[in-house]
Amino acid sequence: MPSPAAEPHLFVVLGATGDLMQRKVLPVLYRLSASAQFPAGTLVLGVARRRLDDAGFRTMALDSLSSGRVAEPEELRRYCDSVLYYQSVPDEGDDRFRALRERIEGLEKEHHLPGNRVFYLALPLDALGPTLDALGAAGLNSGPGWTRVVIEKPFGHDLASAKELNRNVHRHFDEKQVFRIDHYLGKETVQNLLVFRFANMFVESLWNRDRIDHVTISVAEELGVEQRAAYYEAAGALRDMIQNHVTQILTLVAMEPPATREEDSIRNEKVKVLQSVAPLGPDDVVRGQYGPGTLNGTSVAGYRQEPGVDPHSETETFVALRMRIANWRWQDVPFFLRTGKRLPQRRTVVVLTFKAPPVSFFQTAAEYESNPDRITIIIQPDEGFELAFEVKMPGREMRVQTHRMRFKYSQVFGELPDGYETLLVDVMLGDPTHFVRADEVEESWRLYDSVLAAPPPLTFYPAGSWGPGEAQQLLEKWGRRWYYG
Ligand code: BG6
Repeated sequence: MPSPAAEPHLFVVLGATGDLMQRKVLPVLYRLSASAQFPAGTLVLGVARRRLDDAGFRTMALDSLSSGRVAEPEELRRYCDSVLYYQSVPDEGDDRFRALRERIEGLEKEHHLPGNRVFYLALPLDALGPTLDALGAAGLNSGPGWTRVVIEKPFGHDLASAKELNRNVHRHFDEKQVFRIDHYLGKETVQNLLVFRFANMFVESLWNRDRIDHVTISVAEELGVEQRAAYYEAAGALRDMIQNHVTQILTLVAMEPPATREEDSIRNEKVKVLQSVAPLGPDDVVRGQYGPGTLNGTSVAGYRQEPGVDPHSETETFVALRMRIANWRWQDVPFFLRTGKRLPQRRTVVVLTFKAPPVSFFQTAAEYESNPDRITIIIQPDEGFELAFEVKMPGREMRVQTHRMRFKYSQVFGELPDGYETLLVDVMLGDPTHFVRADEVEESWRLYDSVLAAPPPLTFYPAGSWGPGEAQQLLEKWGRRWYYG
């Protein structure tokens, strides 16, 4: 069945002169404009404090799009001139979005738009509350058509602030209007977890404590902190990656089958996983920070030497943790989660390791122990999955060797769309399935609140390594090890 078409609307980006809009959202909007999924007639209205007119904003946008070389310059100019508009807003004042409202209504009238609006908040955390209030005060929380609000991460910096932000959101918007974005949920391979598990009978029947020994989820990045020290220093890897992206993967790996494909059916099951996670203890978490090292043959600076970083910074760039999910499916199956910057390669993988056979009568019992059967789901790059299993080596002796069966997305489907692209289409269609619900975001903060309140001591690792030795010991202590793919 073809997807329904989204309706024409005004796509309003608050924070339009910022990095996120210029680097990420704008190129995605441009690419979408060329696709059949993009509703004809839709306009983009950039909003920020900077004093610019439409022409100034179009020049800025053209520069950003040109540096990404997404299309020929004339084509980009035509897009900017016909689709992009700009409205500056004052810093403060009870009525500071009045001019914005007038501009929105004016554009809708002039271009015969039906009054559907998306407000995309590409803003830092401290600007979210005041912006939601200003939208509410200007009566922009509802309109002649539908109104939706998209909120970027980080959604809060701990449980209390996430709750406060939710209260703020709900003062002005109904939960059905709210799309909390986590771009990992837009990745095809993350969405495929549902299909892999629930459309394949053989997979689901193995996916439990009877057969699985332990699960690891690793999100490794080569990138360092780049130019984002101001944000990252206050965030760190736990807030930046674990609380959102890694936890979202965890919920999809561990959830029960939903009753239907309805958005709330799926999200209810995800929330139940979070509610079943046992409290983390101090021994369950390792925090690391990269020091100077070598990555791909090049020397790279340590985190404390990066521009804008405090030379005595205690911010973690790596986290590994052990988690227990106390429910019927997963009791006694440890989940190990890990993420880090400046690791040897960019790689996001989920590995489910099977239990060893109860008795092994083959010659390579030792090999069995070190190479148990595994399902590896490769989320990026080189998306796909792999089944590692034992085969008999030809010859008179009964010797076994591990081999892998591999499915690669690129071989079958070619290039995959960007997660943002998929999610923006969902927003335009009003489908919140792959967005984070209010209770879900609070539950995910709840998991880490004790660690954020009393972080374990920082350990160190050289850039270009797989993290601190303590992260290896975290698993070895439980007789397990990390697999890289
Ligand atoms: C972002 C984090 O949300 O995700 C970044 O703020 C991180 O620090 C990025 O680099 C990783 O996303 P991806 O899609 O490149 O794995």
